[in-house]
Amino acid sequence: MRSYFLKSFGCQMNGADSEFIVGLLVARGFLQAKNAQNADVVIVNTCSVREKAENRAVAQIQEYAAIKKKDALLWVIGCMAQRVGEELRQKIPKINRIIGATEIEFIEEKIDEYLLPLGNFDILTHNIQSQWSALLPIMRGCDNFCTYCIVPFVRGREHSISLTVLCEQAQKIVDNGASEIVLLGQNVNSYRDKSMDFADLLAKIAQTRGLKRLRFMTSHPKDICEKMVKIISETSNICRHIHLPIQSGSSEILEKMNRKYTREQYLEKIAMIREIIPDCDITTDAMVGFPDETQKQFEETLSLFEQVRFSYAFMFAYSQRTGTAAAKEQNQVPQKERMSRLAKLVELQNNIVKEIYSTIVGRELEAFFTLEQNKKNAHSWAGQDFGAKRILVDTDENLGGKIAKVKIIKSSGMTLVGELI
Ligand code: SAH
Ligand code: SF4
Ligand code: F3S
Repeated sequence: MRSYFLKSFGCQMNGADSEFIVGLLVARGFLQAKNAQNADVVIVNTCSVREKAENRAVAQIQEYAAIKKKDALLWVIGCMAQRVGEELRQKIPKINRIIGATEIEFIEEKIDEYLLPLGNFDILTHNIQSQWSALLPIMRGCDNFCTYCIVPFVRGREHSISLTVLCEQAQKIVDNGASEIVLLGQNVNSYRDKSMDFADLLAKIAQTRGLKRLRFMTSHPKDICEKMVKIISETSNICRHIHLPIQSGSSEILEKMNRKYTREQYLEKIAMIREIIPDCDITTDAMVGFPDETQKQFEETLSLFEQVRFSYAFMFAYSQRTGTAAAKEQNQVPQKERMSRLAKLVELQNNIVKEIYSTIVGRELEAFFTLEQNKKNAHSWAGQDFGAKRILVDTDENLGGKIAKVKIIKSSGMTLVGELI
């Protein structure tokens, strides 16, 4: 039996692409190798969004190139493969193939040719793995060109996948054993199929037979609308979670970022969501140290975080990406200042989460468990409530794929700990 080893960096879109490729390999009889040394094909799915992400990927590829079996294939795929291309192979000659992010959508037609050095493989569809929670891309690419962002350059123009195809895929995913589907797009709210928009798609996918939980990301604040929020509130299997990246609390910086909304408009959207779904978890992405960002503008991000109280946030220091409009700005904020602003924002947000979590202790929540965690003496399962809260339960029971009621017994920092009831 041949085996594969895949390491995925980056966002859930990369995660979905990785799952797709693994599915094609598993259908051809490949098994998952325990480590890269033993695998016949080693795949690294790369991210270009920040410089650090690229550096980590390069270090990882170099390590795999050094330890892989002599005849094993080494493929570098995804966003950095798209951005840097064949130059990567000049740097690391043991790479057999560079597969850019825009090529992955069509890889089914090419994969047998790419695997030829290992032999011919029949398709054994009965071998498809079942999973509890599945990622389903509903669109690809991005047309927004936020001035800091490399994604539109590496993922190409935005296009939606047809509603009929998505409904069929969703049903197949659930029939294969999944209870949860996560719909993915860089800006799901610009989904279109003829007269159907994202709200219509959500309502349709929610009707998939046997689907217990439906999630989606990412919403763009300029496009999110009341129609979608109402559909969430009216549908029992759509999770109460909206990921709504703010990026900056300053309207001037938002304008320079080409985000097409102001701080006030963002706050209006938050008020609209909380009016319709009071218990909705709202999460965000933000970045500090965008070119020209003054101390005062940074403080507007702090005050916005205090005002909104996000359930969690992904926070970043701005990273200059060659080719983007913001990279040409003269007034780049010094790296040290970016890091110090980031530390302040992270500290503020951590305290907010601790406060929110401490009010949840004693409450009963319904959690969907997907991740087993083995520590020295303890065995636990990680799950998610109907919003965006992660819950840990110590138990010997196998909770994989199950939805169970838990009572929250404590919050230890950023984690909620519960027990089964
Ligand atoms: N399409 C999504 C997110 C894509 S990238 C959206 O529009 O929200 C994920 C996050 O990475 C972004 O929300 C942003 O906060 C961050 N990011 C993107 N480019 C970055 C850069 N050049 N430097 C730092 N963070 C960046
Ligand atoms: Fe990047 Fe903006 Fe597109 Fe998100 S919406 S992927 S931040 S360009
Ligand atoms: Fe995602 Fe990174 Fe590409 S965030 S779209 S994997 S550049």
